[in-house]
Amino acid sequence: MPTTTHLTARRSPALIGVTRAPGDKSMSHRAMIFGAMATGVTEIEGLLEGDDVLATARAVEAFGATVERLGEGRWRVTGQGGFRTPGGVIDCGNAGTGVRLLMGAAAGYPITVTFDGDASLRKRPMKRVTGPLADMGARFEWQADDDRLPVAVSGGGLTVIDYVQTVASAQIKSAILLAGLNADGVTTVTEPEKSRDHTERMLRAFGVEVGVLPMGEGWKVSLQGGQSLTGTAVAVPGDPSSAAFPLAAGLVVPGSVVTVEGVMLNALRTGLFETWREMGADLTIANRRMAGGEEVGDITARHSALKGVVVPEERAASMIDEYPILAATAAFAEGATVMRGIGEMRVKESDRIALMAAGLQACGVKVEEEPEGFTVTGGPVRGGATVTTHGDHRIAMSHLVLGLAADEAVTVDEPGMIATSFPGFVELMQGLGAIVETGDA
Ligand code: S3P
Repeated sequence: MPTTTHLTARRSPALIGVTRAPGDKSMSHRAMIFGAMATGVTEIEGLLEGDDVLATARAVEAFGATVERLGEGRWRVTGQGGFRTPGGVIDCGNAGTGVRLLMGAAAGYPITVTFDGDASLRKRPMKRVTGPLADMGARFEWQADDDRLPVAVSGGGLTVIDYVQTVASAQIKSAILLAGLNADGVTTVTEPEKSRDHTERMLRAFGVEVGVLPMGEGWKVSLQGGQSLTGTAVAVPGDPSSAAFPLAAGLVVPGSVVTVEGVMLNALRTGLFETWREMGADLTIANRRMAGGEEVGDITARHSALKGVVVPEERAASMIDEYPILAATAAFAEGATVMRGIGEMRVKESDRIALMAAGLQACGVKVEEEPEGFTVTGGPVRGGATVTTHGDHRIAMSHLVLGLAADEAVTVDEPGMIATSFPGFVELMQGLGAIVETGDA
């Protein structure tokens, strides 16, 4: 079988069509993990069948749950009300959310387990999660380097914690809350700014009481240990972080009208759409409704004359994964788009500030990089470059969107990684009329 070693996007005619984004990645991980922690059957609809979530599915199976695929996006997880010691190492692949939430969950049970991941995940900091879990009583043994996977975790016998976050991170919050479910007493996490609240919402659907107390711009989230989860039905809506790519293409390719249906509109996830509107994007949301405990809607993007803006720093948490695609669209805007207060981008699947700056510059775009942000000045985009993605799905998709409206083609390496969050991305874009070609070795 030939291996696709790169993808090339070319200047395309108007993109026209109606499509759907794959299931939300954050909710898909949680549905799998909570289903495995629960007693009884959890039926999931709309699950993202991306590599990240499939790694989590294999992990929860190893922890003792029964996992069955019933049809496209339809999965059944039968939980045993806890995790048992797995037979081997838990390989979370590329998934930061998967490993961090699973570490939190595992810490609550009297088991020992080793977590590992791919080359990218092995470079990402883990102490932000293991630190508070260790304060609760879990034991960690780093197998290679301090703060990096692989790590062995021994859980059980936890005490509670009142944790105050310095950065708004849903992964840290979620790991602590999941561990807190098996600690003695009330665990609290205080966030200076709100991070995505899928854990809080979904735990309630599994029968757990979660308290939320507003505090300034943030909140204090609490739960009482000893509560058990009961299997339930979970409907996963479309991922706004994935919908962003076809919508971005709609904004930058002249004459386009692109609709993505069933996109989750949780306000803690939609900072990008707000920012695009401030840039002058013609973005409309129709058919707002509730699905799976979240508001969803059908979003239409029409080709728009964009102008640069200063993105408010306090919006960062609600669009942290979207700065790469924002930067790609900002390359076509008139004037400068200033993105600051986003140092967290440097510890995602790659150093996303460095890679977006390098990729855009290689395509002839003016970018000024700062330690905790970057500024993109728009204008006609030359393209004509091969971009190194370091195996980061969002870096790849952002540059492919750029190539659809650039003068010359844009090529990205390691396109297989797109399947971590957006399986079928190329076919979906081609279906809208985008010229994306595969290169085989
Ligand atoms: C996620 C939280 C965010 C985000 C990641 C998914 C989650 O990470 O970047 O893609 O599902 O909780 P942080 O919690 O590190 O900000």
